[in-house]
Amino acid sequence: MNSMLQTDFKLSDVEISDAQDIGHHVEVPAMQNGPLYRTMFPQFNTLIEAQREQITRWYIEMLENAFQAREERFLKVCSVNGTPVGFCGWTVIEQSYDRQQTGEPRKKEREKARKASWLPDTLDIDGWVALSNDLKAERYRVLKDLDNICRLTFMAVHPKYQRQGIGSMMMQRICKETDQQGRCGYVLAAPEGVPLYSKFGFEIVGHVETTHGTITSMFRPSQGPC
Ligand SMILES: CC(C)(COP(=O)(O)OP(=O)(O)OC[C@H]1O[C@@H](n2cnc3c(N)ncnc32)[C@H](O)[C@@H]1OP(=O)(O)O)[C@@H](O)C(=O)NCCC(=O)NCCS
Repeated sequence: MNSMLQTDFKLSDVEISDAQDIGHHVEVPAMQNGPLYRTMFPQFNTLIEAQREQITRWYIEMLENAFQAREERFLKVCSVNGTPVGFCGWTVIEQSYDRQQTGEPRKKEREKARKASWLPDTLDIDGWVALSNDLKAERYRVLKDLDNICRLTFMAVHPKYQRQGIGSMMMQRICKETDQQGRCGYVLAAPEGVPLYSKFGFEIVGHVETTHGTITSMFRPSQGPC
């Protein structure tokens, strides 16, 4: 299967104008089974079309903001007809959380960069905030003293295109750069992502339980030439 990849799928940088296609065709369809989506939208099974459409518009605005802010790095994978079928994002943490005190306003700015100006009617704000706080606490527990980390923030392949090596294609690129820079890797992984990250040397270091499944805290020690 992997020998077909070079011709069937193309890895490239993301443009701001890709947000629509990535939201519609990749990110929102891919995340439907994940604990984060299901915690945020507990009525996930009974949402009507207009509510789904509103959620998708919200994600698209968030992606547009993130692409514009350029605080994170993004890549897409397109099929032969140019439609995005895979998407990933990551951010580099150069200085440990504990040493970032003086950079606090900058950190807040970075967090704000992605946010949309409105919220979907079906979002369970309390559930979302509580889970976000648990995830932040776990991230801090693992990374607090560490510098030079590549933290994965997005990894999604359209359900119809999964298991064809697209996730691995994106991970290969990210890990190559991570290793060249002598960085460690970190991800808070949805259940479907755990086998992919394990394949690329991420080790399980913790768990965050939700009512919709476990989010796994995974760390990849530096394997670079440093
Ligand atoms: C996780 C995800 C990105 C993987 O993408 P993919 O293109 O299917 O990944 P690959 O085809 O490169 O598979 C990589 C490895 O993951 C594992 N894997 C992928 N899908 C799997 C499945 N359904 N069951 C078990 N293992 C699976 C296998 O180990 C596979 O390696 P192998 O084929 O060499 O055995 C994709 O399943 C997805 O988008 N899921 C929904 C969103 C999500 O949960 N993202 C993770 C957020 S942290």
